[in-house]
Amino acid sequence: MVTARQGETILEASLRQDINLPYICRDGACGACKGTILKGTVDYGTYQEGVLTDAEKAAGKALFCCAKPLSDLSIECHEVDELKRFPIKSLKFRVQKMTRAAQHVMLLDLRHEGDERFNFIAGQYVAVQLDDGTKRSYSVANAPYESDRLELHIRQVPGGKFTGHVFNDGMKEGDVLQVEGPYGSFFLHEDSDKPIIFMAGNTGFAPIKSMVEHAFKIGLNRPMALYWGVKTPADFYLMDLPEKWQQEHDNFKFIPVLSESKPEYNWQGRTGLVTEAILQDYPELNNHQIYACGPPAMVDAGRAPFMGRGLPEDQYFSDAFFVSHHNAPATETPSNEVKHD
Ligand SMILES: Cc1cc2nc3c(=O)[nH]c(=O)nc-3n(C[C@H](O)[C@H](O)[C@H](O)COP(=O)(O)OP(=O)(O)OC[C@H]3O[C@@H](n4cnc5c(N)ncnc54)[C@H](O)[C@@H]3O)c2cc1C
Ligand code: FES
Repeated sequence: MVTARQGETILEASLRQDINLPYICRDGACGACKGTILKGTVDYGTYQEGVLTDAEKAAGKALFCCAKPLSDLSIECHEVDELKRFPIKSLKFRVQKMTRAAQHVMLLDLRHEGDERFNFIAGQYVAVQLDDGTKRSYSVANAPYESDRLELHIRQVPGGKFTGHVFNDGMKEGDVLQVEGPYGSFFLHEDSDKPIIFMAGNTGFAPIKSMVEHAFKIGLNRPMALYWGVKTPADFYLMDLPEKWQQEHDNFKFIPVLSESKPEYNWQGRTGLVTEAILQDYPELNNHQIYACGPPAMVDAGRAPFMGRGLPEDQYFSDAFFVSHHNAPATETPSNEVKHD
């Protein structure tokens, strides 16, 4: 049983009281938090079109990251045991190093200066707080065994507030950032022995890098194939790294895919959509796991065709870089009770 404060969503109330419901975006954009209201009424909140249909609402479904209780509730959902491991913290990190890895990609190396460790699971993300109190989400790119630092891969968004600050000389080495996390239920499922396909788009490479480095560290010997899709060769901002992984590990394969090839690129590798490249290579996906991260359109584009090749729905793990509408913080007043089944 958990108690929701005034204005708190079901997800916020549950996480605060150590009930670890699944979620990714916390913003009504991905559908990862969808569950069933068995009893009681909710305000469904604001979410993106298509993520929760009217038919699903009629069948009792709600997005727990947006829905706020209007009465005491009974809900049905499953818990993610792995998330129990690390509580969400808000800590200050210093910008140790800024590296322009490509024209539109900045690598941030952040160091936590206190004694407290910032533990996370490979694949999770953090929220960086801006001066106006809003937050932006970024996947952690380093592996969890380096818990004194955070590596973030930031792609410039035209007109973007935070990325404008990062790219236009606003942010300097030595600056201090308020960082909250770890968040999200996108992580490597180590209990399986299925071959892994990683699908990354642009800076969607970040959490995959964390997962792959973690996999090597723990000696995971399942076959792993990384398909990394970008627009131009210069967008492969850390190309040497997966090439090195491929040379050093027999169970790792790297397939870079360029979406638009031009003669001046002199590109000898694969071209087209990264999802298509996977479909060309795998006539059957019954016995695989796929981890997809990057632009929402790429993550969505893979879902139906991969299932069409036999990939079980629960073996497609994804983290899409949705644009957030940044929820306001909740107040302290107790409100309704939520009972989880
Ligand atoms: C779970 C999660 C993890 C993420 N991890 C990463 C990561 O590792 N690396 C990374 O580069 N980004 C990541 N993002 C995206 C990131 O959180 C921001 O959305 C992005 O950096 C833009 O922030 P901004 O303040 O510059 O733009 P804003 O000021 O928030 O937006 C400016 C304009 O750009 C549009 N916009 C914002 N974000 C995007 C986007 N991602 N794509 C297209 N248009 C956009 C907005 O709609 C708005 O019109 C992640 C998002 C989520 C939800
Ligand atoms: S829609 Fe709720 S976590 Fe993404």
